[in-house]
Amino acid sequence: MKFIPNQTTISEFILLGLSSQTEQQKLLFALFLSMYLVTVVGNGLIILAISLDSNLHTPMYLFLANLSFADMFSISTSVPKMLLNIQTKSQSISYKNCITQMYFSIVFVVIDNFLLGVMAYDRFVAICHPLNYTSIMHPRLCILLTVIPWVLSNIVALTHTLLLTLLLFCDNNILPHFFCDLAALLRLSCSDTMINELVMFVVGLSVITFPFALILFSYICIIRDVLRISSTEGKWKAFSTCSSHLTVVLLFYGTIVGVYFFPSSAHPEDTEKIGAVLFTVVTPMMNPFIYSLRNKDMKGALRKLRDRKIFLQLMPPGI
Ligand SMILES: *[C@@H]1O[C@H](CO)[C@@H](O)[C@H](O)[C@H]1NC(C)=O
Repeated sequence: MKFIPNQTTISEFILLGLSSQTEQQKLLFALFLSMYLVTVVGNGLIILAISLDSNLHTPMYLFLANLSFADMFSISTSVPKMLLNIQTKSQSISYKNCITQMYFSIVFVVIDNFLLGVMAYDRFVAICHPLNYTSIMHPRLCILLTVIPWVLSNIVALTHTLLLTLLLFCDNNILPHFFCDLAALLRLSCSDTMINELVMFVVGLSVITFPFALILFSYICIIRDVLRISSTEGKWKAFSTCSSHLTVVLLFYGTIVGVYFFPSSAHPEDTEKIGAVLFTVVTPMMNPFIYSLRNKDMKGALRKLRDRKIFLQLMPPGI
């Protein structure tokens, strides 16, 4: 890699993980392995169910499949390496792998964030402009709305990564975290990290604010329109189509507010670790449950998958 300047004096980092006690590590291993498997299987099933059921090839479900895809990779950036380190009783990660891990952990959290905004916009159009829905959400716009989060998140991650590779790391290579988190790495550097922190703050704020504003705007329009519906049944129906999205949004932003606005001032690093666990592990794990347990169509698609009817349809005729 050309970007790594020669003055980098350390070749690896030591990831302390979430606990140093052997007993706790065993517990963490079991817990995180289960959460990892649940996340990968849950999100995998959602992607499979949506792609195999042509009734679900609507923007809402295609965005949901994209969210599941990002969630699967989001948890895969940090947890497998953490499990491996506990299992092999080694805590090291090479400089290159550490930077790569940081890059992708940023990419997928940012994509998640933008996709929530895109999904809110989709519900806004569906509820507030139902007659124009198909003409507004035409396939080209849908593809654009899924490509933009990927492009933007890679630009964000690239910016942070390039700025980080300019930093010097001296003798301290001990990272009190379970993966190579940007903020934790900045704290470890012996260079001046003012510019990095400034960029992290500005970019982080806009990455959170922009989708959040989109969500807020969409929900204000949705609530206004739902209140106008005269029948209680109609009101409930309109509301129920966006309640799962609202649950995910509340979970996601509730975490941000809980962790970053009410941090336990005594241990800021602990707060950061809890936040990282919630963002990179718990949210990706919860998303499939929130969507499939609350959604009739999703349940139907999963049931079809279970009954394997769908596999018969997939077979070429004549077999
Ligand atoms: C993501 O969304 C696009 C367009 O909306 C769709 O074509 C694509 O299949 C989706 N990706 C996944 C993994 O479902």
